[in-house]
Amino acid sequence: MSNAELNDLRAQVVPRSVPATAPVYVSKARNAIITDVDGREYIDFAAGIGVMNVGHCHPRVVEAVKEQAELYSHTCFGLTGYESYVRLAQKLNERAPGDSPKRTFFMNSGAEAVENAVKIARYATGRKAIIAFEDAFHGRTFMTLSLTSQVNPYKVGFGPYAAEVYRIPYAYCYRCPLSLEHPACGCACAGLLEEAFDKQVDAGEVAAVVVEPVLGEGGFIVPPPEYMGKLKEICQKHGILLVADEIQTGMGRTGAWFAMEHWGVEADIMTTAKALGAGFPISGITGRQEVMDAVHPSGVGSTFGGNPTACRAGLAVFDIIEEEGLLERATILGERIRDRFRSLQKEYPVIGDVRGLGAMAAIELVEDPETKKPAGDFAKRLRTKLYENGVINVGAGTYHNVLRVLVPLTVEGETLERGLDILSDTMGQV
Ligand SMILES: Cc1ncc(COP(=O)(O)O)c(C=O)c1O
Repeated sequence: MSNAELNDLRAQVVPRSVPATAPVYVSKARNAIITDVDGREYIDFAAGIGVMNVGHCHPRVVEAVKEQAELYSHTCFGLTGYESYVRLAQKLNERAPGDSPKRTFFMNSGAEAVENAVKIARYATGRKAIIAFEDAFHGRTFMTLSLTSQVNPYKVGFGPYAAEVYRIPYAYCYRCPLSLEHPACGCACAGLLEEAFDKQVDAGEVAAVVVEPVLGEGGFIVPPPEYMGKLKEICQKHGILLVADEIQTGMGRTGAWFAMEHWGVEADIMTTAKALGAGFPISGITGRQEVMDAVHPSGVGSTFGGNPTACRAGLAVFDIIEEEGLLERATILGERIRDRFRSLQKEYPVIGDVRGLGAMAAIELVEDPETKKPAGDFAKRLRTKLYENGVINVGAGTYHNVLRVLVPLTVEGETLERGLDILSDTMGQV
């Protein structure tokens, strides 16, 4: 069927609530190129929202998955175990930042991982409250939607949300919640956590602070280097667990296995998903052993969690990142993309901010660099035109005014440059 025919059929069978960024249907994908059913090629600057870090159809992933599919596809790990689950848990325990002994179990989606992190934090501390951040995104199930900040389109009309969720501003330097400047500010915004214990909830009732090391959906907001350490210090002082949501930042995306490594901070619990399975649904909950083992036997679980095919894909992803030097590559790619963004910024004042960490790179678009009024309409036109010009892209930001690049870490240099050239031309056209 053609794109046009599939769009007609979709309108008859899929509800309008399901996101539809572009009227394009994929026929095949290789590394950083997606081909649609009409035979047109696109450069993939989204990687399925940060999932295909090792590129589409990496031969090692394909081989592992094929082999597994012929052996067995499901037993339910809780009923009958298998080696790939245990070995993938071991890999995550080894690679998770910090020296404490770790434990890992698996679920299917990012949201489920965060749900489980909250369950464990509550169980281990005997406390109920959770603190999350403005502009945070943790998923679309009820607990995670309660932690998610952005109202439109995620939260409108779906409430009521979970009780005992409190929210503080993130270290968003471009729009500082305290109107200060780093480094002169001394990272004062970390102190807003302490302030919440006076104004919102008693510290002794807080089980966990759930934080993205770099805000993903919120607009690729990178906190100052000392921010996470300060949060951790405050958490430790009050017996609160620090949960690092590495679902978008993890598995090499930022130039480290996990973004918390950049700041030398060990979270009590870490969540992973997205790139872990290279497109095969799997999420991980990794934490300090005494926290994870606090929960009674059979207290967590899932029919599909840690599916053998996804575990095999995950093991292949670890090997590929290691053997192909993708951590270094993520750093180089990110620098290259931000360099191009900074040159564009000189030409187009609509680019208010260029930022990112490793191969998370973004531009924040504003109507006026002084007022910083978000240019959401411009961003929408830019994104549509980029699709028309052959670049698959993804937006971000509470005001939908951020364009983020999440290109596969395996992208060929020439493909990256071509994509950046198209982006540059498209800026001019919009
Ligand atoms: C940081 C973060 N946490 C959680 C999620 C939710 O993951 P999923 O869509 O797999 O439920 C996402 C998805 O974008 C995310 O970026």
